[in-house]
Amino acid sequence: MNTHADALARAESARAGLAATVKSRWYPAFHAAAPAGWINDPNGLSYVHGRYHLFYQHHPYSTVWGPMHWGHLSSPDLIHWRHEPIALAPGDDEDEHGVWSGSAVEAPDGRMLLFYTGHRWRDGVGEEGGMSQVQCMATSEDATTFTKKGVIVQGPDLEHFRDPKVWWQDGTWYMVFGASSPQGRGQVWMYTSPDLEEWTFDRVVFEDPDPDVFMVECPDMFELDGHWVITYGPMTRARREGYGGRNGHNAGYVVGRWRPGEDFVQTRAYRHADWGHNFYAAQSLLTPDHRRVTIGWLGGFILPMAPQAEDGWAGQMSIPRELHLDEDLNLVSTPIEEFEALRLSTLDFGSFTLGADEERVLLDDADIVEVLLSIDLSSSGAEQVNLLVHSTAPGCATRVGWDDLMARVVVDRGLHRPTDRGMRAAPFDGKGCLDLRVVVDRGSVEVFIGDGEAVLSSLSYPGEGRRALRLSNVSGPAVIKSCVVHRLAPAW
Ligand code: FRU
Repeated sequence: MNTHADALARAESARAGLAATVKSRWYPAFHAAAPAGWINDPNGLSYVHGRYHLFYQHHPYSTVWGPMHWGHLSSPDLIHWRHEPIALAPGDDEDEHGVWSGSAVEAPDGRMLLFYTGHRWRDGVGEEGGMSQVQCMATSEDATTFTKKGVIVQGPDLEHFRDPKVWWQDGTWYMVFGASSPQGRGQVWMYTSPDLEEWTFDRVVFEDPDPDVFMVECPDMFELDGHWVITYGPMTRARREGYGGRNGHNAGYVVGRWRPGEDFVQTRAYRHADWGHNFYAAQSLLTPDHRRVTIGWLGGFILPMAPQAEDGWAGQMSIPRELHLDEDLNLVSTPIEEFEALRLSTLDFGSFTLGADEERVLLDDADIVEVLLSIDLSSSGAEQVNLLVHSTAPGCATRVGWDDLMARVVVDRGLHRPTDRGMRAAPFDGKGCLDLRVVVDRGSVEVFIGDGEAVLSSLSYPGEGRRALRLSNVSGPAVIKSCVVHRLAPAW
């Protein structure tokens, strides 16, 4: 007989084989990732039995997306992760072709519950024949071994109907997930339950006002600083243009008002949650000390990603970020304070001015670092002020910095060879001082602007050799108010 336990055992053994081939050159030193194989969305981000849990969409058989499993990590602090056994494998009637994205909660009786989408290709083969999706549940006593309990929300058999996020509020359990309406509009559906077993349709709580958006992937809905926020991945028919929306699918959010039993009333227009190349499908949790913390997938839809070829792994998670709203209802995000525990040693370069077209090496060996850079834009005449990270052979680097002509903060991978080389750019008003916090891992860079009012998250794959950190500027002086580099400790 073909049981879930057999499917998990096969997946573990395939992954162990692949793990023997994993190369470390771009494998994250302090970002959550699988030991081997493909990953995409974070799933089941939760705090259960005194530990954080992070599951992920996983194909343990190869570095390419395939029949989805749920991989599993746990952590005392959201920074130091431990690999756990694979939690869910596909193959039962309701999830024959994939255990797709979802969430986790601790039930009042102490069990850990996973909510996920059971996915089937209608023709049994693939995308062309369409999809059939239902919401399912699995339970666990020990947060390690999970038993599937089958379908909990059947739905009207829409083509896109997935990614349940469950939370508890005012005596009721709520579930939201994404759907594509029969008219082809992207919607968030809401169900409620008194006991996590019986679920009742409540309403379509949100429809993206953009008629080009035909599906809302991985919606997350939470109260933040007195407002309600829905983060999601709009799948759109619109063509790519301008600075945003260039990643195939992109992560964004809306802000509004909501009360149980009512519709969500949107009060702030859609905005990108991240302006980089690789951030999607973010999921949040409320920590025991009531911080709203989110983690996104650093991956994407412009393939291949460089490690897919011969590194034995592909895809990683972002640094966990604490979320707030500013007075204009912009989502601001900053690395959680636990991240600072990774700081090993600090180099303070003080304040200085770079002459026109100057280049300065800050560190000739900056494998994993965090850089705090403050540029006085009002006294700088430079067209560009660049922090060159992952700088290897002459001319090879990922450029992070201020572009005065564009009046934007950019991450430019155009100087690197082994991957998609696009440039991304985030808004900044260009006035006064530009503060950048740049987190550099072996295969990624995350750039937090100002107090976190905009972020760029991008994969970045340095070439061979030592990875230097440089500053450079173009045509005119750059006044650096402060520059501090923390060397970081690996978290694995
Ligand atoms: C988003 C997504 C989800 C789906 C999962 C499948 O990246 O498409 O909507 O559940 O990935 O792996």
